[in-house]
Amino acid sequence: MILFDPLILNSYRKRKVEGGIMIYKIVSHFVLIAIFIGMTYGTVFGEFGDVVISKQKESLQEAGIPAVIFPHWFHRIRFKCKVCHESIFISKAGANDMNMSNIAKGAYCGKCHNGKIAWDTLECPRCHMAEGTNLKETSSETSITDPKKIIYLDSSGKIASTGNIKESGVAGNIVKLGKGEHVKALSPKEIPRDKFGLVDWVKLADAGLINPAPDLDPSVKDDDPMDLNILLVTAGKMEDVVYPHKVHTWWLNCDSCHDQLFTMETGATDMNMSGVIKGDWCGRCHAKVAFPLEDCMRCHVKPKSGAKKAQVIQ
Ligand code: HEC
Ligand code: HEC
Ligand code: HEC
Ligand code: HEC
Ligand code: HEC
Ligand code: HEC
Repeated sequence: MILFDPLILNSYRKRKVEGGIMIYKIVSHFVLIAIFIGMTYGTVFGEFGDVVISKQKESLQEAGIPAVIFPHWFHRIRFKCKVCHESIFISKAGANDMNMSNIAKGAYCGKCHNGKIAWDTLECPRCHMAEGTNLKETSSETSITDPKKIIYLDSSGKIASTGNIKESGVAGNIVKLGKGEHVKALSPKEIPRDKFGLVDWVKLADAGLINPAPDLDPSVKDDDPMDLNILLVTAGKMEDVVYPHKVHTWWLNCDSCHDQLFTMETGATDMNMSGVIKGDWCGRCHAKVAFPLEDCMRCHVKPKSGAKKAQVIQ
């Protein structure tokens, strides 16, 4: 079964924006269009890590447009957090002043949703979907059974590449960045999960099932992650916490944590569990985008050893 990417159809339609009419926009020639076999967009919605963006509530209501849903999972299979945080978006819901005019000028979502790295801003309902208008599109067929069967067409309709990169080569760097490489991660069969059935992103990355880009410039090589473990001694009987820099710096830039959440000095931050639950410190990400706090023993891994204060450990 072949499902045509709605991009092809929608890009030629007239759309109203803030009272003005946007002129016809034709898909530019270096944009390659993907045709997924046996896959729909229905899988995108309602996942752990989705952020509803509705800071501009009044303008949205006035225009009769639903709020935006930003799906983290759909982006993090393609990009490490460091691509977006903190340079494009501050990693705090509601902290970014976005509107259609700065997005259309290439800021925020417009950094990629510009018809080059991803479909452009004329695709209103793909972002403005918080009312669930797109949910009915969900189909029973949600997996690519064979990722090699994906076909990429160029704008003249010729085959540019396939999911079988070994045979056909990649379609081009910019497309590779947005699309081609990460298809395996879209196949539910392959996804390692935690005990709640959520994606285990650590195992997923370790198994090489995703290879998210560290930068929007394909020629930029990522720094090696920093291997530095810190023992955080808990009050009471609960096992101590080990904070691993390695997994975090694989995904994140230092500035997502230092110094806004933690100073670069072991033991300097006075943390406790109720603050974490309220969204401070580790709770800025865990339970929102990273694995939930109910998974106690992923953080509280170290039986009490008599250590009295936080320290760097092996
Ligand atoms: C790539 C994602 C994306 C696409 C596509 C998109 N928007 Fe938006 N839009 C946003 C975001 C993010 C905001 C900010 C929402 C907020 O902070 O409440 C926004 C805000 C708005 C607002 C309220 C603020 C303002 O700028 O007036 C309106 C109205 C709006 N969009 C209309 C549209 C229309 C019409 C289209 C299609 C032509 C569209 N949007 C396409 C992401 C998108
Ligand atoms: C493609 C860009 C992009 C990538 C990649 C990305 N994020 Fe985000 N992130 C966003 C946007 C957009 C928001 C919403 C900001 C807003 O509401 O103003 C957000 C919000 C957040 C928030 C705040 C959530 C809340 O409810 O307060 C956290 C925490 C966060 N991101 C962490 C991460 C982590 C960790 C990763 C990597 C695993 C990541 N992000 C990857 C774009 C991205
Ligand atoms: C770093 C680049 C980047 C940024 C920044 C970014 N996106 Fe995306 N986004 C992508 C790519 C690449 C895809 C996959 C495109 C494809 O499948 O053709 C995507 C896919 C999506 C999807 C998946 C749903 C669908 O129908 O394909 C949604 C929704 C979305 N983006 C919304 C947003 C919103 C809202 C923002 C801003 C708040 C944003 N994105 C910012 C790169 C980005
Ligand atoms: C996800 C959050 C996070 C990220 C990202 C992060 N760190 Fe840290 N870092 C911490 C925490 C938590 C501590 C311990 C703070 C405390 O005990 O008060 C720490 C402590 C440190 C320390 C103190 C070690 C010592 O010997 O006392 C240094 C140095 C440091 N980080 C450097 C970095 C650098 C460099 C990066 C980027 C490559 C980075 N960190 C990225 C969370 C983070
Ligand atoms: C994302 C990591 C993380 C997860 C998951 C987590 N904790 Fe914690 N926990 C911490 C940190 C950090 C501290 C503070 C350590 C310190 O004092 O420096 C802490 C402290 C505690 C303390 C010591 C008393 C206090 O209030 O500070 C208890 C008890 C505790 N956690 C119980 C739990 C339980 C029960 C769960 C599961 C429901 C859990 N934690 C899940 C990170 C985590
Ligand atoms: C800026 C976001 C952010 C902050 C702050 C943060 N984490 Fe994480 N953490 C992540 C991401 C992303 C992962 C990768 C796994 C995932 O996404 O579920 C992760 C993974 C981990 C893992 C690895 C689990 C495994 O299976 O190997 C541990 C342990 C952990 N975090 C503990 C902590 C503790 C303890 C703190 C606070 C001292 C903390 N994290 C603060 C984003 C964050």
